[in-house]
Amino acid sequence: MNLTNPQRVLSGMRPTGQLHLGHLHGVLKNWVQLQHEYKCFFFVADWHALTTHYDDTSGINESIWDMVIDWLAAGVNPGEATLFIQSRVPEHAELHLLLSMITPLSWLERVPSYKDQQNKLSSKDLGTYGFLGYPLLQSADILTYRAGLVPVGEDQVAHVELTREVARRFNFVYGREPDFEERVKVAIKKMGKKNAKLYKELRRRYQEQGDSEALQTARALLEGQQNITIGDKERLFGNLEGSGKVILPEPNSLLTRAAKMPGLDGQKMSKSYNNTIALRSPPEEVEVALRTMPTDPARVRRTDSGEPEKCPVWQMHEVYSNDEIKSWVQEGCRSAGIGCIDCKQPVIDAVLNELNPLQERIKAYQEDRETVHAIIAEGCESARNEARETLEEVRQAMGLLYR
Ligand code: TRP
Ligand code: SF4
Repeated sequence: MNLTNPQRVLSGMRPTGQLHLGHLHGVLKNWVQLQHEYKCFFFVADWHALTTHYDDTSGINESIWDMVIDWLAAGVNPGEATLFIQSRVPEHAELHLLLSMITPLSWLERVPSYKDQQNKLSSKDLGTYGFLGYPLLQSADILTYRAGLVPVGEDQVAHVELTREVARRFNFVYGREPDFEERVKVAIKKMGKKNAKLYKELRRRYQEQGDSEALQTARALLEGQQNITIGDKERLFGNLEGSGKVILPEPNSLLTRAAKMPGLDGQKMSKSYNNTIALRSPPEEVEVALRTMPTDPARVRRTDSGEPEKCPVWQMHEVYSNDEIKSWVQEGCRSAGIGCIDCKQPVIDAVLNELNPLQERIKAYQEDRETVHAIIAEGCESARNEARETLEEVRQAMGLLYR
């Protein structure tokens, strides 16, 4: 069973500190692209921050608003995407709890980040229930919106995989109805003669000949139906593939194919390596940070030649410079025709040019907190409406609608 709903995208970010150029190039630029193409939900994962920072919550409030402002300044558009805060949509917690009932402990224990993070953050006690369960909380985040696509980095793919397994199990356990076949028949009729015939034909082609194009077409046909209820759609989606109702569709990860943003030391830019340039760094600090960045260690003196491939500044050029500048660097470095200070100048200019308008916009939002609060209030409300619908379906499937 592999029902996806590709027009919905969901992604979250933890409010654990200042956003930096790595977030801008690795995540935010991607979000800005996606918001034009899909129905996007982007949220502040504040409960996720608690799974590792439960002992000191004092920074969360400020981090949340700083982060939202940085998103907006980077071009994430509340007119196109729904922006919200996880804890303002308590349905995430309800779904997390309900999913926990059917999730084997071993599935959580074998998620790679569980052991990795425990080792990496060994100064913290991460032997908590919340920490073990956090990938499942992420599953609940995704499934609450029945998102088809989840933009994530490499390290998060395992969480989307877990989500698929949990959704499959949920549909398997709760998607069986005694009168399923009967209800499917009724639902097909409701589509009207022409569509009903098309649906049956496409289903036959998929089931008898494994024609996956027919499956895609049939899904699109169902998506477009206005006359049938969500419950009936779930039945018809399941019926296509020979399963029960598909209440929670399985999502796919959307690997971010962004340029690798190097940190000041050439490793991946990350707060934990202390090698970041924050989006809010004052220009003077940016300049100093880049000027003092290490270069190819072989270039001790100005007259020594160097090798860009061994230099983190070159990786910055890969992100920021055009072909002309790049060949100037390659040639000048290898022939010692340029010095490292010369070489860094175009990068410094490019970063400052990028940050200058961004910081202007950040400032404007900081002076207009009311607008920011209103954007989030509205986003939370519309996210919650979507979440309520899913939870209604989930309770119904689980036999928890007591009427
Ligand atoms: N766990 C993600 C991180 O640490 C954040 C996150 C929480 C998320 N829920 C999500 C990302 C749902 C994508 C979808 O970066
Ligand atoms: Fe690095 Fe540029 Fe210096 Fe070469 S010239 S070592 S690429 S900073």
